[in-house]
Amino acid sequence: MEIMRILAIETSCDDTGAAVVLDGRKILANVVSSQVSVHQKYGGVVPELASRKHIEMIVPIVTEALEKAGVTLKEVDGIAVTQGPGLVGSLLVGLSFAKSLALATGIPFIGVNHIEAHLSAIFLEEKPPKFPFIGLVVSGGHTSLFRVDGFGKFRRLGQTRDDAAGEAFDKVAKLLGLGYPGGPIIDQLSTTGDPKAIRFPRPSIRKNSFDFSFSGLKTAVVNYVKAHPERPEDFPEEVIRNIVSSFQEAVVDVLVKKTFQAAQHEGLKKVVISGGVAANRVLRQRMEKEASEQKIKVYIPSPAFCTDNAAMVGVVGYEYLKGGIRSPLSLNAFSNLPL
Ligand code: KG4
Ligand code: ZN
Repeated sequence: MEIMRILAIETSCDDTGAAVVLDGRKILANVVSSQVSVHQKYGGVVPELASRKHIEMIVPIVTEALEKAGVTLKEVDGIAVTQGPGLVGSLLVGLSFAKSLALATGIPFIGVNHIEAHLSAIFLEEKPPKFPFIGLVVSGGHTSLFRVDGFGKFRRLGQTRDDAAGEAFDKVAKLLGLGYPGGPIIDQLSTTGDPKAIRFPRPSIRKNSFDFSFSGLKTAVVNYVKAHPERPEDFPEEVIRNIVSSFQEAVVDVLVKKTFQAAQHEGLKKVVISGGVAANRVLRQRMEKEASEQKIKVYIPSPAFCTDNAAMVGVVGYEYLKGGIRSPLSLNAFSNLPL
């Protein structure tokens, strides 16, 4: 069968990404330009600044990806781009660019759902799972559980009713004056904290519901901080480490419990974890431990494929384009694109 080279583009939030992927599996290039330095001083992503940075970076990043891959536009068989969900101004930059490129070159073009891309990042790894499996997407914008029966074949089992898990990490870090993004900072600080120091609530909606809720946990951290007379900036380092370790432990407990409950409920023996929070060291360890105890196999992409990247968009784009599915050049971006 003929080889397909997909040029993939991702601009759903604050990372400008471009990749060249061979047959939806092998990465020839995967370039990500992070905007952390732009948003850091605001303690979160500023949508307008994000769009402006994407428009600056999109051409250099796509050019760099093609150069690194050693592939010319003439050798590209398909263009895949994130269509949503995400920040609409950010999405529009990647989407408009991809559409213009498709129009100018005549290369087939496909819009990809960002959540489906996260769920498919595992196919970039050596030994990907076979369908069906339980998929947990846990990022800054999403915390959802799916039953996955194939590309394009999903059933959502549950989702967060308020904050996403990554959002909770970011908000707690901001509250404690630790910086942005909170996830990696808390992950690092917690290596020497005591996860049992403070018993934060494990927000668990009814048994047999696979919905999540993290805003109560965040409020519990706020209340804990408020109960202290000194400002968080003046807390001793050890106290900060214990707060973040205990918070992280609560998030991990809930994610692990619900994911394995979902596997049991669906009678599945395979679980895939993805999204930025899946880069978390403790979450990865606990998922592995629980999986070996329950004789379930857990698949977690390497950290660089957990956070936003274009290679995962290339995986999904390939599957659709291979099947002859294309998007029209009138395709629009949607901040709430459902899966
Ligand atoms: O998937 P992603 O890059 O973008 C979205 O689609 O949202 O996820 C970003 C989120 C942020 O909230 C960030 O704090 C969190 O993932 N994150 C982590 C870690 N690395 C990134 N959370 C916990 N531990 C980490 N190591
Ligand atoms: Zn994402």
